[in-house]
Amino acid sequence: MSQCDSPDLKQRLAPILQKHGRDPTKVLQILREIQDTAHCICGQSIDLIAEHLDLPRVRVAGVAGFYSFLAGGQACGEYRVLFSDNITDHMLGKAELMDYFSKKLWLEPGKVSEDGLVSVDSTSCTGMCDQGPAALVNGMPLTNLDENCLDLICELIRSRKPVSDWPPMLFEVQDNILRKDVLLGEAFEPGAALKATLARGPRETWAEVDKSNLRGRGGAGFKTASKWSFCHAAIAEEEGHVVCDIGDRAERIMVCNADEGEPGTFKDRVLLNSYADLVFEGMTVGARVVGARRGFLYLRGEYAYMLGKLEGVLQQRREKGLLGKNILGEQGFDFDIEIHLGAGAYICGEESALIESLEGKRGRPRNRPPFPVTHGYLGHPTVVDNVETFACAAKIALHGGEWFAAMGTGQSAGTKILSISGDCERRGIYEYPFGTTIRQILQDCGAEDPYAVQVSGPSGTTISWKEFDRMIAFEDLATAGAFMIFKRGRDLFQMARNFSHFFAHESCGFCTPCRVGTTLMQRIMDKIDGGHGTASDLEEMKNLGQLLKTMSHCGLGTSAANPVLDTLNKFPDVYEQKLKALAFEPAFDLDGALATARRITGRDDKEAHLGAES
Ligand SMILES: Cc1cc2nc3c(=O)[nH]c(=O)nc-3n(C[C@H](O)[C@H](O)[C@H](O)COP(=O)(O)O)c2cc1C
Ligand code: SF4
Repeated sequence: MSQCDSPDLKQRLAPILQKHGRDPTKVLQILREIQDTAHCICGQSIDLIAEHLDLPRVRVAGVAGFYSFLAGGQACGEYRVLFSDNITDHMLGKAELMDYFSKKLWLEPGKVSEDGLVSVDSTSCTGMCDQGPAALVNGMPLTNLDENCLDLICELIRSRKPVSDWPPMLFEVQDNILRKDVLLGEAFEPGAALKATLARGPRETWAEVDKSNLRGRGGAGFKTASKWSFCHAAIAEEEGHVVCDIGDRAERIMVCNADEGEPGTFKDRVLLNSYADLVFEGMTVGARVVGARRGFLYLRGEYAYMLGKLEGVLQQRREKGLLGKNILGEQGFDFDIEIHLGAGAYICGEESALIESLEGKRGRPRNRPPFPVTHGYLGHPTVVDNVETFACAAKIALHGGEWFAAMGTGQSAGTKILSISGDCERRGIYEYPFGTTIRQILQDCGAEDPYAVQVSGPSGTTISWKEFDRMIAFEDLATAGAFMIFKRGRDLFQMARNFSHFFAHESCGFCTPCRVGTTLMQRIMDKIDGGHGTASDLEEMKNLGQLLKTMSHCGLGTSAANPVLDTLNKFPDVYEQKLKALAFEPAFDLDGALATARRITGRDDKEAHLGAES
């Protein structure tokens, strides 16, 4: 019997419901915890949550059905094994290993074993591409998987040993920091940037961030000082203030975006694992500047295993007077940070979808304007910044804006942390000044006969070996951090196909061009892969790509066709060699689908076949 069906469900869920009170923004956190304990979210649980929070049932069910880790009403095993499905995991043998594991345990991917003990499935990139093939077992990270390791895991599962008692070495995740610069290389004393901020004052600290030319590290590259001042001004103007008067009554919110769902990106994981103080300090500096009292770290569900450690860092900061009331003894400087866990939805990295998720809803991007800086979390002016942006802000508060602006290029100040994976000898984290060429980076990481690089993940740019003199910079190759290397001989069609599956899976489904466009793109890529592609399919994909770019509601849709369009443009041969014919061939075999009807009616004559000439 599934634990959901047990008669004492109400009693067993009571502690979870009580812990979160009657706050409707906690729906996702409640559902996550129920999923972890009951391995399923059944109708009865949804009823109980809806009743407890006084929410319409459909709202709770909608959230449960949206996030892939919640699995809606579908059960998963007591041991839930999710293999990371990024192309870099595939290049390291993911498909074969998942097959090996499934056969050993007599499992069918996507289904639960008869006894309810175990389920296995794929999941979008888990952010461990430097040490793949990777997987999660009940949220705990497994890296560098091979058959020996899977044998051990099978034994542990068969003997029903709780995951908490498994050998800790199974869950080791390395930082693999291989090049340090000003962010990663200097020791940081917690509190140092805050002391500098208090000494300088909020208005002057904002001026330093402005002078630094810091631009957001999450991808879009918006100027951080402008975002902070818009957020501050949203209330200051209403209240008749001009700039930076701390102590306004209305609330402002600082959010750190640690959703890091872009396949191939894992630098925020390392920043949070080993530089959390720097990140939290940057948030607190930002809070002082904009006048925020509440902060959230939106931590992707795949990094849930870091939750305890991060809570510990927050607690230490409270004890040192770096968070909480009257920070560092400054009357009225109150700020604290809460961690909110995601549940496996790439779209929640988009800032307005993230805010919806923080409010306990489905992660659906909002219409903009209004922008989050004026109307964000629960309608309050909200800053959403990337993890690395906050780390930079702390350093700027400490060393000043000119120091930062002196590094990098004209339009791209400072350094950029890259997550390097794929075909190279030394995969890991590299921090470079902006303006560094792709060629230099490839040389440093020991790339083997590189042929193409995917810069900034599937939503970024595929560059060919002819473009290796281009540089990492907002004015050339803007990047959120992913850097996946493909050597000569790698099938770039499979790379683009993998990314087309990713986008079709991650589309939130809200707008038709993206919902349908990503699915059609995936189907055509599969059709070509299956040996049925024709030249007209390539044309169809170009048209779909244009449609996605121009008609989608948010950045996921507008960038979803990038890998296909880039590879079609730069590597047309990888498609042409897979084409069957230059003429049209339908994606669906209608005649084949009528075979059962022919068998039932006992007909197999010419007229019973579609397309038969009479
Ligand atoms: C589909 C999608 C996913 C995104 N994922 C992330 C993410 O994981 N982390 C992030 O910082 N920004 C992500 N962004 C960008 C955010 O919307 C936002 O621009 C960013 O958090 C702002 O922070 P920044 O100014 O520090 O870059 C994503 C955008 C889109 C459209
Ligand atoms: S573009 Fe895609 S992800 Fe964005 S709102 Fe539309 S369906 Fe959702």
